[in-house]
Amino acid sequence: MKILVLNGSPKGGISVTMQYVNYLQKIHPEVSFESVNIAQQIRKIETDPQEFDKIISRVRLADGVLWAFPLYILIVHAHYKRFIELVNERGVMDAFAGKYAASLFTSIHFFDHTAHNYIHGICDDWGMRYIEAFSPDMVDLLEEKGRTQLKQFGQRFLHAIESRALTQRQYPPLSQREFLYKASLISAMLDAGEKKVVIVYDGGRPGSNIEEMVKTCQAAISGNVQVIDLNQVEIKSSCQGCLHCGYNNVCSFEGKDSFTEFYRTTIMTADVLVYAGTVVDRYLSSRWKTFFDRSFFNTHTPVLIGKQLAYVISGPVSQLPNLQEILYGYAEFQQANIVGLVSDEYGDASEIERLLQQLMVSAVQMAEARATRPMTFLGEGGLKVFRDDIWGRLRMVFRADHHAYQRLGFYKTFPQRNWLSRITNSIMLGLLRIPPFRKGFNQQITRQMVQPAQKVIESANLNR
Ligand SMILES: Cc1cc2nc3c(=O)[nH]c(=O)nc-3n(C[C@H](O)[C@H](O)[C@H](O)COP(=O)(O)O)c2cc1C
Repeated sequence: MKILVLNGSPKGGISVTMQYVNYLQKIHPEVSFESVNIAQQIRKIETDPQEFDKIISRVRLADGVLWAFPLYILIVHAHYKRFIELVNERGVMDAFAGKYAASLFTSIHFFDHTAHNYIHGICDDWGMRYIEAFSPDMVDLLEEKGRTQLKQFGQRFLHAIESRALTQRQYPPLSQREFLYKASLISAMLDAGEKKVVIVYDGGRPGSNIEEMVKTCQAAISGNVQVIDLNQVEIKSSCQGCLHCGYNNVCSFEGKDSFTEFYRTTIMTADVLVYAGTVVDRYLSSRWKTFFDRSFFNTHTPVLIGKQLAYVISGPVSQLPNLQEILYGYAEFQQANIVGLVSDEYGDASEIERLLQQLMVSAVQMAEARATRPMTFLGEGGLKVFRDDIWGRLRMVFRADHHAYQRLGFYKTFPQRNWLSRITNSIMLGLLRIPPFRKGFNQQITRQMVQPAQKVIESANLNR
């Protein structure tokens, strides 16, 4: 049996993920796991048609395809994303159709589910027979339990191929509406005043809806409004995963291209950020993904704290809850305030124009009001994953994060530090063993839950 492994690590064979594949190969000598370094070799794959065709021929000959990749900023590496775009652009999805597929991705479990959903969706779009995802922590292979789980995953995947298992599509096809948005001449509704507004988009297609929507956003606000086309920013490559930035947030591309300087001087100094992009397959473009990957020179430290972040999307974003989760999860982890999202999916041109104007005005007003809101599970959960790992096993590599987390007070959220609740817990847990006390406690519990808030309400001042 032949399994074609599509390696999504920019590090090629020296990849944590590939060690999992190597393990599968070792325990299944009867199967051939052939790998292609997609993310590492993307330039060649994109520019040399023979190289691309060779990969597609290998897909055609394979009994199964294993998507093996590291998590990169809530999804896959930009180069892996580009490969998916190339398959779509060059119309060779038929090579994948009917093939059994599974995905194996390593991470620290920060939004690994969104990467899985994405790849599964792509497999469904290409008519593949998707079996399952396997999402180990980077170090699971070192433990007996992790190896057992990996063995079981391998057996299930190989057995599914041998037994021609039935599979069912999980992600419905996306429907795109045919609609051309044209920006009309509008005058500014608000002056940004002291606030700096930065609109970032992936241009390159004059007259496209996203370019026209950006024009409307730009026109809605006067003052310090900068518009950046990501295609005009000099970016040599996406992130190479070298982790040199972990020590002091200095990227190994620093001085070799303009990205980090652009990010520091334009993005990190803005008060309002508008990220505008077109849906390409089930995410934004690989150019946008490169932007997110390269912003990793800030590693796990949020650098958009308190900024207002608005999304402008062209394409079927409402049909992509996974993409929405990625966009909102990213904003929450960055501790930016989400202003809203406007797309060109519904409404006529004048409605969309008014929605965009409203979005821009709200963004500036929210910046003036320093608006923030509570995080949802996306931000809360994500921060706790990072907090624990940076304090613990990853501190050595991500020293800069450790110092930032100390400065930002992230470690103060460790429950072990909350002495009041620790003392209260130990006293109360002892008392609750006494049945009459527990009975009284249970009678009081709902009232006790609202009492502190009621006191706050009593002392609240009138606020017009
Ligand atoms: C730029 C970058 C972005 C990353 N993004 C994520 C992420 O969003 N979620 C996560 O859990 N791990 C993330 N990681 C960690 C990697 O997924 C993890 O280290 C993986 O095991 C690396 O695999 P590889 O050696 O095969 O490339 C990221 C690492 C890098 C360098």
